[in-house]
Amino acid sequence: MDIQLRTDTPVKIAVVGSGYVGLVAAVCFAEIGHSVVCVDIDAARVAALQAGEVPIYEEKLPELLARHGGNSLQFSTDLLTAVRAAEAIFIAVGTPQSASGEADLSYVEASVREIASELNEYKVVVEKSTVPVLTNQWISRTMRFNGAREENFDVISNPEFLREGTAIEDFLYPDRIVIGADTERARAVARRIYQPLIDGSYFSRPDHVPGPRDLSGGVLYLETSAKSAELIKHASNAFLALKISFINAVSNVCELVGTDVAEVANGIGADSRIGHRFLNAGLGYGGSCFPKDVRAFYKIAESVGYDFDLLQAVERINEGQKRCFMKKLRTALWTLKGKQVGVLGLAFKGGTDDVRESPALSIVKTLLAEGCRVSVFDPAAMEKARLVLPEQDNLVYATDEFEAARDAHALLVVTEWPQFARLDLNRLHGLMHYPVVIDGRNLFTLNQMAAAGFHYYSMGRPFAEPGHHTVKGHALK
Ligand code: UGA
Repeated sequence: MDIQLRTDTPVKIAVVGSGYVGLVAAVCFAEIGHSVVCVDIDAARVAALQAGEVPIYEEKLPELLARHGGNSLQFSTDLLTAVRAAEAIFIAVGTPQSASGEADLSYVEASVREIASELNEYKVVVEKSTVPVLTNQWISRTMRFNGAREENFDVISNPEFLREGTAIEDFLYPDRIVIGADTERARAVARRIYQPLIDGSYFSRPDHVPGPRDLSGGVLYLETSAKSAELIKHASNAFLALKISFINAVSNVCELVGTDVAEVANGIGADSRIGHRFLNAGLGYGGSCFPKDVRAFYKIAESVGYDFDLLQAVERINEGQKRCFMKKLRTALWTLKGKQVGVLGLAFKGGTDDVRESPALSIVKTLLAEGCRVSVFDPAAMEKARLVLPEQDNLVYATDEFEAARDAHALLVVTEWPQFARLDLNRLHGLMHYPVVIDGRNLFTLNQMAAAGFHYYSMGRPFAEPGHHTVKGHALK
């Protein structure tokens, strides 16, 4: 798309919600030159942010908060004042899963009602939270029902595609920016906001955040209808989840025939139409997005009359991976009650302290229910894990990987932290009661583990055992 408009005028932005998406968006909007107020109802969180504290573990966030906090980036609990001053209001509140599997949009609606009451002049209301298709229409209707005049607002959709752990980089170096707007007036405001990324001028600033690729020519900027933008978000997450479940299903076949899923994934991924990313077999996906969004997408499709049963299979395969992992532990240890088990990882993936819907946490809970004594370690997520799973008789939070492994009958790898792959295997071996490792994230090579003397079980790969520097392939039943 040829974007002609060029303006360096900062836009006054209000971001409602200081969670993952809200906080990162607020910080990055300030970074690309705008004046931002980030609002949250949680007064303690706002006070902490005002004092320069960083509530989430995220690379580059502390630096950017220090750079803009108190200057072009303010934090506040006062939504109405922020809305009155803003030209664009980004809604980035939570859309958790409701009991029925649908997205709970009550926080979105509550924000919209408040925003509607304060519309003194034309403003653009932007859905940044992940919401089902047609939410845009509901927001517009709610705005009107709450006294907002039609000519005073537009509602647009601007889905966010950042990943936890690389959120700042993903925001500033996106594969694409999607703006779903049904009026030119709203599209013009959105372009002004993203102009420094659209024309690449941000990347020529001497103090720009360095990133993974050269975007000096500008970022891909897609303008769509509001409905399409909403669907792009749900469909993207569902497709990525599908890719993970697909390779996990393939990994189960690999186990049954005695071959290595890594080889197969490498061969599949070499097809440029498929690509290598998100083809890592293992314990499956977790986190605050994929599980919730796959379900919500299924539900919204159902509500408009389509049975998207492929998504149910994606979920089923994902759940099956945890059972498959526990089966390997039973194969290795025979009975579980009273066994000492070391667990490496708690976060839902490496590089984050987030334990929401973490497959790792679910494994720890199963181990405790089976009567195991568990010693866990995670480089970043121990604090958050303790809040949902406090230390107890059979559960110890260890000081490092080696303490977690001490006297263990088996060591389980459940989160893909790169540092686990660099562990001194001989030292680990010397500390353990049985030399058994069950790797739910395929961090080690089979030969490496066999050479270090381990009985090594991984996902979708042959079993490896000591004395066999080459692997004795057999299917695990
Ligand atoms: C995901 C998407 O990747 C983002 O694009 C999206 O913006 C975000 O959700 C969201 O909707 O907010 P995130 O949840 O941070 O980001 O994490 P991912 O890196 O996508 O990983 C999700 C899960 O899949 C993790 O549990 C990870 O261990 C698992 N995974 C990932 C695999 O099991 N195999 C893979 O090959 C890749």
